[in-house]
Amino acid sequence: VTPDGKTARRLDAEDPLAARRKDFLLPDGIVYLDGNSLGALPDGVPDRVATVVRRQWGEHLIRAWNDDDWWTAPLRLGDRIGRLIGAGPGQTVVGESTSVQIFNALVAATRLRPGRPVLVTDPEHFPTDRYLAASVARLLGLELREVPVPRLAAVLDECGQRVGVVAYPVVDYRTGELWDVPAVTAAAHGAGALVLWDLCHAAGAVPLRLDADGVDLAVGCTYKYLSGGPGSPAFGYVAARHHEHLDPPLTGWTGHARPFAMAPDYEPAPGIGRARIGTPSVLALAALDAALDAFDGVDLSRVRAKSLSLGEFLLSCVDSLLAGLGFAVVSPREPARRGSQVTLRHPDAYPMMAALVERGVIGDVRPPDLLRFGFNALYVSHTDIWTAVRVLREIALSARYRDPRFQVRGTVT
Ligand SMILES: Cc1ncc(COP(=O)(O)O)c(C=O)c1O
Repeated sequence: VTPDGKTARRLDAEDPLAARRKDFLLPDGIVYLDGNSLGALPDGVPDRVATVVRRQWGEHLIRAWNDDDWWTAPLRLGDRIGRLIGAGPGQTVVGESTSVQIFNALVAATRLRPGRPVLVTDPEHFPTDRYLAASVARLLGLELREVPVPRLAAVLDECGQRVGVVAYPVVDYRTGELWDVPAVTAAAHGAGALVLWDLCHAAGAVPLRLDADGVDLAVGCTYKYLSGGPGSPAFGYVAARHHEHLDPPLTGWTGHARPFAMAPDYEPAPGIGRARIGTPSVLALAALDAALDAFDGVDLSRVRAKSLSLGEFLLSCVDSLLAGLGFAVVSPREPARRGSQVTLRHPDAYPMMAALVERGVIGDVRPPDLLRFGFNALYVSHTDIWTAVRVLREIALSARYRDPRFQVRGTVT
């Protein structure tokens, strides 16, 4: 593709998802390339949250748990997300944070494979996943092995019969690399192990087929490509074949077979209901429910096709506009190996991103020197990408980013 504004406009004119942008409340003049961290606000969310607050909470009061279906929302929304990740109904539950879901899933998965003392995870996994795997290993007396995805097969050859659980990200949060879910899942199964996938950077961006690929467990957040809002509840998936023996460590009362019997002992609910933990965050679920409307009638293969088009266009703009300015492309160039993100490396990544954000182009940075540009195909256009790379070129050329004010770091990067 030719990296120019005319091509961007042509690609946007041919884009079957272009009309979806109006489903999001994006401020004028902003190019938003950080939907892989916090998705933009879907336009149905403010009114839905207001209704739940004023009418349901304000007027219906505690009756709303039944009358407004608050109690069943974690499973109802789980099924809505299930549709986006290739999971049939009754296998996905929404609630808690991703970190809590990861802990619950790691322990539950390990308990499904007794006598297998090795827990495998990715040395490049998101920190919370690594920290939790280390803690679970200490808690359960497991041996933690950090194995890069490309080395998994060799490790399974060497000691596969000792591996109980393999916990990997579908998309690497730093580089945007997309791993081969069916191949890795099949390799783990070949050794008799289970796989726990973290879908944070994939759900809503990459078509997934958890059921068809034989995935065992998965977790994911809803505030990135699903645009559920800051801190929106996470989700957990457990394949139906594991439900009967699933023994999650967080035996909260909402996962009980009869929560309102107030029984003295825990008896797990049948099905995915046993993966529920505590009282759901109803306001956050309402925001997420409205956010998921943006995916109604959307075919994720279209989302993927547009995301790949945006990625290809971004890479061609980078190659032509940023050549010789000290940038390197970190993400895989092969489309099939890339999520919905392109990462660049530059020694002055931090101040450059700060200068870019000041100009209305929002991406983010990860240490030590990475600039991340994520694109949600529902609201990012090729023209946005063209603007972003043009502005980045101007910033790099003018060296304006060296101004000391761009060195000031916020708590959250
Ligand atoms: C792969 C992955 N796991 C987990 C998390 C975050 O976990 P939590 O929602 O508990 O903060 C992130 C956040 O970026 C992530 O990228």
